[in-house]
Amino acid sequence: MSTTASFDCVLAGATVVTPRGAAVTDVGITQGRFAALGDLGGAKTAERIDAKGLHCLPGVIDSQCHFREPGLTHKEDLGSGSAGAAMGGVTTFFEMPNTKPNTVSAERLAKKLALAAEKSWVDFAFYIGGTKENAAQLGELEKLPGCAGIKVFLGSSTGTLLMDDVSALEIALTSGSRRMAFHSEDEARLKARQHLAEGKPVSFHPQWRDEETAVISTRRLLELARQAGRKIHVLHVTTAGEIALLAAARDFATFEVTPQHLTLAAPDCYERLGTLAQMNPPIRDARHRDALWKAVNDGLVDVLGSDHAPHTLEEKQQPYPKSPSGMPGVQTLLPLMLNHHAQGRLSLERLVDLTAHGAARVFGLQGKGGIVVGNDADVVLVDLKAERTITNGSMKTRCGWTPFDGMRVTGWPMATMLRGQWVMRDGALLGAPQGRAVSFLPST
Ligand code: DOR
Repeated sequence: MSTTASFDCVLAGATVVTPRGAAVTDVGITQGRFAALGDLGGAKTAERIDAKGLHCLPGVIDSQCHFREPGLTHKEDLGSGSAGAAMGGVTTFFEMPNTKPNTVSAERLAKKLALAAEKSWVDFAFYIGGTKENAAQLGELEKLPGCAGIKVFLGSSTGTLLMDDVSALEIALTSGSRRMAFHSEDEARLKARQHLAEGKPVSFHPQWRDEETAVISTRRLLELARQAGRKIHVLHVTTAGEIALLAAARDFATFEVTPQHLTLAAPDCYERLGTLAQMNPPIRDARHRDALWKAVNDGLVDVLGSDHAPHTLEEKQQPYPKSPSGMPGVQTLLPLMLNHHAQGRLSLERLVDLTAHGAARVFGLQGKGGIVVGNDADVVLVDLKAERTITNGSMKTRCGWTPFDGMRVTGWPMATMLRGQWVMRDGALLGAPQGRAVSFLPST
């Protein structure tokens, strides 16, 4: 790179992290894209940011968020949810279809895209929900601009989306070709055991929705997807049993784990947090958490997603099992994982693969997911030494709480850049919402 090259911005002296390693280097940015990596000390630039001592990571891609708009905006909306994203170093989110109404058609997708173009602080795509009624149209719907792909609930969770019928699932799996995302719990077993949860404390949640519930569903899903020749992505995997099945299906199946399943464990989380720890699939005991960590470090897990799923404290105060499942997490995904890195549980290289490169690979995201010349300049500058306390008060989510309130962590996102523009610096949002819909490669 000629030292006389000129840039809009140079991030100087940070340690830049890619899946291949970490090295101190300058990053040149022009017209919202990475333009050069290397010694840019002599380059002309409109802005030079001294980032010495910080680590420069690709902006996080959170491929599982529930931002509740339209219809449930007392819990969250695309403005508040994406503000939390920007604060937490997340530069792209994929949002889930269990809004009100459900996102199950081209019109409803278009409405969300228009709302997000007005309100979102970061870039976005939306899943379309697969149902018995639209199963045969999914191949057309998945091609719509701004669509992250199809999401299917095999077991019921929050809202009314559900595909518990094998013949509808077979139609869905053969309609279209993009990777399809699944919430995998077996509906028949959930229904048959639901009465067991009545009158029980929330610590019963992982017994009602037990390991077998997840394993039966994922085993059947893998068989049907293999027969259909369809690529699939299993969201929030929580059990040791599923990991063994998924390890044998890497030719067509990818999977996600969440920071909360890697951080919390039963029974402690239910004793401390009550229904705030209730989510689907549940937080389980340390045996399962250990299996998830092993899968992370064996290279099996493809992506980390937050499953940001806010509910108000009032809603959460209803007695179990009436209390809704889900917890916020988009803003704490990166701080929690940086803290796990500080505690020696995963390398920074693995962290950026799980938080950015993996999602770009799995979903075929165009021009995002890594500090690579030509990609969008989506960056999070982190201070690996910064100690902070996660608090309810610092969360942008409209629900106003986090299950990690009071937790001391080491490692913190100091600044977030979206396509070359700062959207957060030193804990404050900057500018105005500029998020755009992302694009996907045609073949994925
Ligand atoms: O705990 C959960 N909450 N799991 C889901 O699958 C849905 C989510 C929600 O939307 O509240």
